[in-house]
Amino acid sequence: MAIKRIGVLTSGGDSPGMNAAVRAIVRFGIKSGLEVYGIYRGYAGLLDEEIQRLEYRDVSGMEKGGTVLRTARCPEFKVADVRNEAAQILKKHEIEALVVIGGDGSLHGAAFLDADHGIPTIGIPGSIDNDIYGTDMCIGVDTCLNTTMDAIQKLKDTATSHERAFIVEVMGRENGYIALMSAIITGSEAAIIPEVPVDYDKLSDRLLEERKRGKINSIIIVAEGAASAYTVSRHLEHKIGYETRITILGHVQRGGSPSAFDRILSTRMGLHAVKAVLDGDFGKMIGLQANNMTRVPYEEMLGKKKPINMDLYQLSYILS
Ligand code: ADP
Ligand code: F6P
Repeated sequence: MAIKRIGVLTSGGDSPGMNAAVRAIVRFGIKSGLEVYGIYRGYAGLLDEEIQRLEYRDVSGMEKGGTVLRTARCPEFKVADVRNEAAQILKKHEIEALVVIGGDGSLHGAAFLDADHGIPTIGIPGSIDNDIYGTDMCIGVDTCLNTTMDAIQKLKDTATSHERAFIVEVMGRENGYIALMSAIITGSEAAIIPEVPVDYDKLSDRLLEERKRGKINSIIIVAEGAASAYTVSRHLEHKIGYETRITILGHVQRGGSPSAFDRILSTRMGLHAVKAVLDGDFGKMIGLQANNMTRVPYEEMLGKKKPINMDLYQLSYILS
């Protein structure tokens, strides 16, 4: 029997473009004859029955950062009985399928709902970390990189003026993607990432060598999952012998109006999520692979580590 009523929620860390995805789901869903219900504050809001029907005009403004559906972490959702309660709430509201927009943790929750609790789900990867296997890009990554690029470029100005080294800590949890890409797009000296052990002696020798060759600023990007900026600074400062300053970019990386790329990606993913619902093709994440929209079964992506591109890692050293 064709599905008539679906829910959509955003969960985990917000990322720019989530609103554009919700907009596409609601509008394309309504055009396709579905009723779409917004579930507020992720799985926590689902358990609290924060559920509201969304109409065409409720989702205007894809330029907004953050998520208008709000988001939350809900650690108790890892407990099967709690997920069962959530499934009963969805059934009570006659919501027959759920689209979950979020990171790796949120997609685990969606996969359990689908496999164990009788709620068909579709996942959409939304996370600035770009750590989700099975998709080239997650919603929000491009905007995040534009933010880090802008911030690091500004730091370079003052680093040059004062002839200092800056250690810039970026987000990414256990993953070095944001750090590596930020280093490449700003021509920074190094990216310290969890995937590659750091040799502080080698790094400081290189920084000193570059100084000798006339380079007067140094920018080192460190992924939060590799080390803290303070640790890196302690290791380097006494070796390189010139002043360092620390900048932790923090949650600014998660904010802002989505870039053109993220608006397009979110819109495509939202559209394809609804298409999967209409096809009754559940238990899958919508992914971007070689610029095509794909449906990746949860069991083929969850639990797999997305590898870092080592060619790009080498390149970042060669080009800086
Ligand atoms: P993200 O989705 O951004 O990776 P989290 O890892 O914090 O963020 O996960 C978001 C939410 O997804 C968690 O607070 C929890 O409600 C749910 N979740 C995470 N991991 C699991 C899991 N293994 N099983 C069920 N639900 C999970
Ligand atoms: O997963 C996105 C992310 O921004 C990570 O990069 C970071 O480690 C984490 O979320 C921060 O979470 P919180 O918003 O709970 O501080």
